[in-house]
Amino acid sequence: MASDSVYVERFTPTERAVHWVHATAFLALLATGLVLYVPRLSILVGRRPLLKDLHVYTAVAWIAALTLVVVLGDRRRLRQTLRELEEFDNDDLMWLRRYPVPQGRFNAGQKVNAALTAAFAVLFAVSGSLLWLGERDHRFQFASTILLHDWLTYISVVLLVGHLYLAVIYPATRHSLRGMTTGAVRRDWAKRHHPKWVPEQRQ
Ligand code: HEM
Ligand code: HEM
Repeated sequence: MASDSVYVERFTPTERAVHWVHATAFLALLATGLVLYVPRLSILVGRRPLLKDLHVYTAVAWIAALTLVVVLGDRRRLRQTLRELEEFDNDDLMWLRRYPVPQGRFNAGQKVNAALTAAFAVLFAVSGSLLWLGERDHRFQFASTILLHDWLTYISVVLLVGHLYLAVIYPATRHSLRGMTTGAVRRDWAKRHHPKWVPEQRQ
């Protein structure tokens, strides 16, 4: 069929579920976290204990929902995606030095973004859990925990702005949003941006 050759599958339903569960929870944590952090917003919204509860319950729901997607989803394809993200070859290094070398399903920038996202998720969860525990037991109180949580937030906001610009605004890359919503992208777009990946697709 013509439409089969025009589009190629980019993300499986499980990959999309992982992305959107993570993105939704992250944005909710960012919004509630910022209200806790910015004094003007804190005063405007008030009800600090409720916001704190919302923040922590969202964190619990985030981890539970991600676990559920992984347990119920297509783990074989997720493992394959992980391998693709971990593989860092010479072309990736050259690409980071701004040479226009061909890229696979994920370019080197996306691989770095995925690694940072995963590392930050763990660090957010560890520092957030310590903040929660520290309020209940002084043995878990460390001066640097809140600093770490705050710095992770600052860097995440910078990464998120770049990510959203590429996914929604920048003309050359915004077609990728179709892949993360419907699962498929145009073959000619994929060939232009990810030439080492497209030939692996069935014709
Ligand atoms: C498992 C994940 C997380 C847990 C368990 C968690 C937990 C917490 C806790 C317990 C607090 C302390 C609230 C207070 O005492 O005022 C807090 C504050 C905060 N969180 Fe999270 N959090 C998590 C993820 C995130 C994420 C992903 C973001 C941002 C994208 C974030 C941003 C913030 C901010 C900005 C504050 C306020 C810090 C301050 O007052 O200096 N948190 N979090
Ligand atoms: C409404 C908000 C968001 C939109 C519209 C969006 C859009 C996208 C799109 C279109 C892709 C696929 C790019 C491709 O074709 O390869 C993608 C991938 C990805 N997204 Fe998002 N995203 C959002 C929020 C987030 C958030 C909040 C995070 C993490 C905190 C995140 C982390 C990632 C990661 C790690 C990837 C794979 C690597 C990459 O493409 O950089 N996204 N996103």
